[in-house]
Amino acid sequence: MTEIRLALVGLGNVSRAFLKLLSQKITYFSEYGFTLTVVGVATRSHGIATNPAGINPALAIDAYLQGESIEKFHTDKRIYDTLDFIHQVEADILIESMPYCPDMGQPAIDYLISGLNRGLHVITVNKSGPAFAYRQLANLAREKAVSFLHEGTVLDGTPVFSLVRRTLPATQITGFRGVINSTTNFILTAMEEGLPLGDALRQTQALGIAETDPKHDLEGWDAAAKTAILVNALMDGNITPTAINRTGIQNLTTRTVIEATRQGRRFKLLAEAIRRDDQMITRVTPRLLPLTNPLAHVTGTAGG
Ligand SMILES: NC(=O)c1ccc[n+]([C@@H]2O[C@H](COP(=O)([O-])OP(=O)(O)OC[C@H]3O[C@@H](n4cnc5c(N)ncnc54)[C@H](OP(=O)(O)O)[C@@H]3O)[C@@H](O)[C@H]2O)c1
Repeated sequence: MTEIRLALVGLGNVSRAFLKLLSQKITYFSEYGFTLTVVGVATRSHGIATNPAGINPALAIDAYLQGESIEKFHTDKRIYDTLDFIHQVEADILIESMPYCPDMGQPAIDYLISGLNRGLHVITVNKSGPAFAYRQLANLAREKAVSFLHEGTVLDGTPVFSLVRRTLPATQITGFRGVINSTTNFILTAMEEGLPLGDALRQTQALGIAETDPKHDLEGWDAAAKTAILVNALMDGNITPTAINRTGIQNLTTRTVIEATRQGRRFKLLAEAIRRDDQMITRVTPRLLPLTNPLAHVTGTAGG
């Protein structure tokens, strides 16, 4: 049985859901001949722990949720910060799930680069790295002969990048259009049912789907970051979220949204990209779609 050692940066909603899923799939993994051991966890304000023999994820999660430090699970020499954690932890895979870093993707990019430089396979669900430094990270991973995977950054678990990589090898993608932010989509659906924007936002926060800073969803930054990742990874582009023509949904009122539905139309925050000759045209903007458009029927949390 091969042991695969995981080091986690972040123990928030995504990381905890991932660990819960791992515990449910243990038998499945052993059928494939491997076990997964969490040998390190780094957080921002709940401490850092490494243990080569393995940290019990359930106990670490309990401590985290009680607001305690996870440092009581630490057995190695002192670790000072997240970067130090990445330099020291003896792992095979680094999984980074920090909140979106609007400041040009930092410090997430430095963390991912450090992991790749150490020869770790790197997985991120945080859009920061692939949105602001896709080329650099993908090239470094290739140079170090490790994987740089970011499937969870767009459409959650729906395999967009693997689908293209594995099943569309000789295809040039020239454009896309879609609903790629579930928080605003949930909010727009709730507003159609009469809820004010603020109440709908609170529901998405209770569901754990909203960005840590809700402005990133409402103002279209999350969708812009995802658009940048799709363009960079699938269309061989080299753009950052700030280059995208962006308007959010923060100024839409429940009254306007309901009025649109009365006229047989729906507001959707659409992300679009198209390559015209050498130019990449990208935008994220609320658009009024007729019900004959299939995208008008992506409701609630179905967008991703
Ligand atoms: N929620 C979803 O449905 C979903 C789906 C797909 C992708 N994503 C993306 O996944 C990422 C995580 O989402 P989430 O909902 O899990 O966020 P979250 O609940 O806010 O958790 C973020 C975690 O990152 C830790 N962290 C922050 N800065 C750190 C640092 N410098 N070093 C080490 N740890 C640090 C935080 O530690 P403290 O708690 O101690 O501050 C926390 O444990 C986000 O980028 C989000 O966009 C989320």
